[in-house]
Amino acid sequence: MAKLDRMLNVADLAAAARRRLPRGIWDYVERGVEDEVSLASTRGGWQRYRLLPRILRDVSKVATGTTLLGRAMPLPFAVAPTGGAGLVWHEGDLHLARAAAARGIPFTISSASTMDVERIASAGGPLWFQLYLWEDRTLSHQALARARAAGCDLLFVTCDMPVPPNREYNTRNGFGVPFRIGVRNVADVLTHPRWAVNTLGRYVVTGGVPRQANLPPSLSGKVTRVAPIGAAFRQDNLEWEELARLRDHWPGPMLLKGVLRPDDAERALALGIEGVVVSNHGGRALDPALPAIEALPAVAAAVGGRMAVLVDGGVVRGHQVVTALALGAEAVLVGRAPLYGLGAAGGAGVGRALDLLASETARTMAQVGAASVAEVTADLVIT
Ligand SMILES: Cc1cc2nc3c(=O)[nH]c(=O)nc-3n(C[C@H](O)[C@H](O)[C@H](O)COP(=O)(O)O)c2cc1C
Repeated sequence: MAKLDRMLNVADLAAAARRRLPRGIWDYVERGVEDEVSLASTRGGWQRYRLLPRILRDVSKVATGTTLLGRAMPLPFAVAPTGGAGLVWHEGDLHLARAAAARGIPFTISSASTMDVERIASAGGPLWFQLYLWEDRTLSHQALARARAAGCDLLFVTCDMPVPPNREYNTRNGFGVPFRIGVRNVADVLTHPRWAVNTLGRYVVTGGVPRQANLPPSLSGKVTRVAPIGAAFRQDNLEWEELARLRDHWPGPMLLKGVLRPDDAERALALGIEGVVVSNHGGRALDPALPAIEALPAVAAAVGGRMAVLVDGGVVRGHQVVTALALGAEAVLVGRAPLYGLGAAGGAGVGRALDLLASETARTMAQVGAASVAEVTADLVIT
């Protein structure tokens, strides 16, 4: 187990996770698509911004709390949906959810998760639910009903993956679907005994390969197998009209995830959708998609104040949270940062990642002279 007090930042947690995880799993978490231009600029793009602090302000008490769509949040960030967390740590979704709940930080359950939504929800809230639509749309509607009943109160519909992304490393690493046992992946697992015993081993002992958990039991296949007819995600035929009709199945607020263009945000606003997540999926969907932080100002200028605007991609430091707020986001999502903590040390590692981000956010706010989230204003950042 990683010595958490020696993990001084999220990068330390990432290095520990990398050592523990088989390469196939690490690459799945860490990498992007095709030539990874989008991934590199999603991370490196933050270098474009500089903070311009205000001096001589009373920052003896910094309030990091904020409100998103009427929901109070102790910090201006939440945990992004990451399907496959269960591959990083045994029952990884539950550990992510518990660590977030213990801090009052919202956790977004992925519809691609390998654990039943009800089980994850047992961690407590606040809980949000992310939806990919299954080919058989009634399955999606049933998943929404389950998520709602389990206590999720905000829906993300992810729209940046009309077709499956091109992740060549999964094939090269032997981690494709359907999964085929080969020299490469067996060697990969055997040379990472901590993962082999504590993650894979525990699944083997407790019931086998993780399954697509948000489907009815008759359709919920192993994640290593091609899904049965109707039970695969299918969004190449998803259009605005159908999105609007999802309202019939979700009475609460809905956010569109994967927006990079102001005109799409305006269209969502016109449909009465409550918010957008400006995102390029952490550089994991389209190469070379624009980094979300670069897309944010135009989207915020178009719809900010009239709908919620969130952003994600490449956030591993609190100063990035503050920068995103200054550029017009109401809140930020973190995807890989908590996964690094999970891969390094399970739930305790997730907690460490979230605490590091929280303390860095508060410290940066103090340093720029902002005693509250409302005081994080556009003039604090320059390009
Ligand atoms: C391993 C992994 C799995 C992901 N799974 C999902 C998912 O199931 N649904 C979704 O909308 N986004 C998914 N994402 C994207 C995240 O929600 C988020 O947009 C992205 O990770 C943000 O970038 P960051 O990881 O640099 O913070 C996933 C990201 C990662 C790293």
